[in-house]
Amino acid sequence: MQHLVGSAGFRHLELAVGPGVFVPRPETELLAGWAVTLITPGATVVDLCAGSGAIALAVANEVPGVRVYAVERSPAALPWLRRNAEARAAAGDTPIRVVEGDVTDPAVLADLDGTVDAVLCNPPYVPAGVAVPADVADHDPYDAVFAGADGLAVIRPVIARAAALLRPGGVFGVEHDDSHGTAVPALLRAHGSFTDIEDHQDLAGRPRYGTAARSRGVASEHRRER
Ligand SMILES: C[S@@+](CC[C@H](N)C(=O)[O-])C[C@H]1O[C@@H](n2cnc3c(N)ncnc32)[C@H](O)[C@@H]1O
Repeated sequence: MQHLVGSAGFRHLELAVGPGVFVPRPETELLAGWAVTLITPGATVVDLCAGSGAIALAVANEVPGVRVYAVERSPAALPWLRRNAEARAAAGDTPIRVVEGDVTDPAVLADLDGTVDAVLCNPPYVPAGVAVPADVADHDPYDAVFAGADGLAVIRPVIARAAALLRPGGVFGVEHDDSHGTAVPALLRAHGSFTDIEDHQDLAGRPRYGTAARSRGVASEHRRER
């Protein structure tokens, strides 16, 4: 439907979508809303796996003066991201910075390591081989939906990147499959760099996103190790 009308609503925004880009979903509005309550004016925010720019552009729309980086790898999705970013900047929102790159690559945005206030991510997370509805299977890009045999192939390296990017006390939120309500908090605990680890449900009562804060006093050690 969103491909037919050419746009999708996300929080207060109407975003252009079409072939090659993931259609933003209502459940992701919860992750963006969680972030907006915590991000303060002037903060530095990184949206990993940006797609249409839904999360990044919502933050730029709702929090004044933020410095938002939106990282996306897909050559098919990037034109939609750039188009939405330009439209929102023209509408008066703080411009976001679009970064073409692989979110699992430690070199991407490495210059920001240890300085970021919030890292947000709605990655591909459906385990390969799981049956999905026809609208997803036929119209959402495969690499936007599926992530390896257990669905955690992108989330695992993203947790490591978030730990590196965040300043002490910075916050991380990552959406996940409804089968990952235990696995994602366990991965966050196992990394050893996060506190305040919680999992949150979507409006249907299913486990949907994990959140955590970067432990204080370890980011500088991380920088020394690099
Ligand atoms: C589930 S979609 C989410 C898009 C958007 N954040 C949203 O919530 O609507 C995941 C996005 O991650 C991108 N992606 C998948 N693997 C990636 C990687 N390794 N590096 C960068 N982007 C990636 C896909 O192209 C897709 O746009």
